Amino acid sequence: MIITIDGPVASGKSTAARNLARLLCFHHLDTGAIFRAMTLMAIDEGIDITDEDALIDMLKRVRIGLEDDRVMLCGRDVTERIRLPEVSAAVRPLAENPMIRSFVLDIERSVAKDTDIVVEGRDMGTVVFPDADLKFYLTSSAEERAQRRWEELRQRGTPQEFETVLAELVERDRADMTRDVAPLQVPADAVLVDSTGWSPQQTLEKLHSVVLERLGGRV
Ligand code: C5P
Repeated sequence: MIITIDGPVASGKSTAARNLARLLCFHHLDTGAIFRAMTLMAIDEGIDITDEDALIDMLKRVRIGLEDDRVMLCGRDVTERIRLPEVSAAVRPLAENPMIRSFVLDIERSVAKDTDIVVEGRDMGTVVFPDADLKFYLTSSAEERAQRRWEELRQRGTPQEFETVLAELVERDRADMTRDVAPLQVPADAVLVDSTGWSPQQTLEKLHSVVLERLGGRV
């Protein structure tokens, strides 16, 4: 069984997906982490991401492992480093590259094969899992999302001005929504959840109630 959660930057998808997966005893896949890990590899190795040959070479070598919410890149634990602001700022060209997206799509589908899973990202319900059992689109106001990201950065010891965080978030949403390949859209058959003003627990309760209503005896 596949449950998808799509939504804009810092909409609380990861927390909601992790919490829902735990509650249902499903697996959890954060697909943004895959794009982030590849971006980190390109940064660490000084790879020119506009050079297709260099990217092809990177794809031949890259090994990404996703286990228990730890992200491994070529055997190294990069769970914390993939969240650094420089990775967020550099991910866009890779996320817009059809070759990279097709490579990531294969990983996403193979991870979700023959299992019960909550998958989160930008194109889960539209492109990667169009036949998912249940689809959510999770959002909240840009100010609240920026506030969450600001707090997250502060706690990680990489603080930034609130205005900078908000401007970057709005720009990243715009880029995700307007790109040619797999843009962020509300899947036609998704349940729209606006969690503005809600705690993670309230968001979880809302998602869980929809799961019970829609998937009833199956979970
Ligand atoms: O969700 P997160 O912010 O960690 O994702 C990092 C970036 O990866 C996003 O800004 C987005 O451009 C890209 N992404 C994507 N498709 C996905 C997941 C993430 O393009 N399914």
